[in-house]
Amino acid sequence: MSEQMSGKRVLTGVKPTNNLHIGNYYGAIKPAITLSKECDDSMIFIADYHSLITIHKGQDLNQSIYEMTAAYIASGLDVNNTCIYKQSDIPEILEIAWVLNCFTPKGLMNRAHAYKAKIQLNEQEGKKDLDSGVSMGLYSYPVLMASDILSFNADIVPIGPDQKQHIEITRDIAQKFNQNYKADFFKVPDFQLGVPEDVPGLDGRKMSKSYNNHIPLFMDSKKLRKKVMKITTDSTPPEAPKDPESSIVMDIYKVVASSEQVDSFKEAYAQGISWGEAKQHLFECLDKYFEDKTQYYNEVIADKQKLDQILKQGAEKARSYARPLLQELKKIVGVC
Ligand code: TRP
Repeated sequence: MSEQMSGKRVLTGVKPTNNLHIGNYYGAIKPAITLSKECDDSMIFIADYHSLITIHKGQDLNQSIYEMTAAYIASGLDVNNTCIYKQSDIPEILEIAWVLNCFTPKGLMNRAHAYKAKIQLNEQEGKKDLDSGVSMGLYSYPVLMASDILSFNADIVPIGPDQKQHIEITRDIAQKFNQNYKADFFKVPDFQLGVPEDVPGLDGRKMSKSYNNHIPLFMDSKKLRKKVMKITTDSTPPEAPKDPESSIVMDIYKVVASSEQVDSFKEAYAQGISWGEAKQHLFECLDKYFEDKTQYYNEVIADKQKLDQILKQGAEKARSYARPLLQELKKIVGVC
């Protein structure tokens, strides 16, 4: 355990999405698991009520909750060491969110990035109503997120750069509340900024479902090979030396392989490895890395009862923190 993490509660949330890809794995899942192993009090939750803002098909949301949970477990999350739970299993989060709503200036929400981006898009598209397509869920997203964090007295919240503003908002709300009641009630959290490992997609742009350039996570070998063979390459002839600095195959390899492996792959480029061989090599490396995880994933996702049980166990633990906090909060605000 690292010194910095000792005695600290580290909490983070992930929105369930379907069609997870290796970009999600290297950008979010793997770093979260690594961090969870470095601390003795870690919590990871599935932010399903946040996903409800965009996923309006019950079956899809439900399936993506299981897929996300299974992905974390198959990727090595130790459920005995890390408390994993579903946001919607903790009703206290929503009660606390209401209280926080009452201490959140509306102007603060007007300045939140996701809301502002939507307004801008509406403006660009010439829409008359700039709030078109903005639900109260989207608008107050940061308040629910603040409650996710403040309900558990989290010390540190590991996040990607796109979430920094949300933590600043959380801090603002907590401080406003504390000042009003002249109490140190909510712990004002710090964030830990992870450097996201951007994985390039098949066409070299950032890997993303919306660009349809992604390599799905936990695919069987045959399909994985087919995907890898689709990576864009230039027209350098088979025998000619190739430039490792402008190759998508190499860029993806760098994320997966060790630096020694990368060095010897570079050597192969210099000696004129063909693109077909290079892709085969990348495929074998990916296949080897994900083989056991894929098998484990398939076992885990097939046993939804077990997943339910894991999430339930996590929720019990998480609620044991949030319940007394809510009781105390109700006293302070004067409703009981
Ligand atoms: N908003 C985060 C994201 O999109 C997910 C999230 C919800 C979260 N609640 C959180 C992250 C609390 C950290 C802490 O990635």
